[in-house]
Amino acid sequence: MTRLLAWHDEWSLNIDVLDAEHRGLIEHLADICHRFGPEASPRRSGDAYALIDALSDLGEAVREHFKREEELMQTVGYEDIAEHRTEHALLMAEYTDQLRRWRAEGIDVFDEEAQDNARDWILDHILGADRDFAKAFHEIEDHLPAPDHPHDVEERSRLNAARRYP
Ligand SMILES: [Fe+2]
Repeated sequence: MTRLLAWHDEWSLNIDVLDAEHRGLIEHLADICHRFGPEASPRRSGDAYALIDALSDLGEAVREHFKREEELMQTVGYEDIAEHRTEHALLMAEYTDQLRRWRAEGIDVFDEEAQDNARDWILDHILGADRDFAKAFHEIEDHLPAPDHPHDVEERSRLNAARRYP
């Protein structure tokens, strides 16, 4: 039976743009679980590739998200960006490989094991490496002088611009 996958506030990094995107990705995955889980009915007829297409779309959404996250890291001068980028690249390689296997198997039901794997794939990163970044991000922010400090205006607007990235 499909467990209800929903966003938990304790997964938040307190960086609005990233939280909104992470939440979007979890909701995206939850939607796939709901539409293609074992108890989804009636069984998808007609389009045998609907699940694979949905999973490809999820992969693309994650890839785009990683790109924007790296842009934010670059903007704030995150010192462990290279390591983080490598983790993103490995995660995408892993997913591409998984997608290839799913495609070869011709899966049309997203079973519990696949759901759990996909959930862990996203969540372990959010709760691991992304938390490390959030910690550094908030430290950078905390060490900024008061907002009216003249020399700081540029730094602060850089951070603010980063948080509002499209
Ligand atoms: Fe990340």
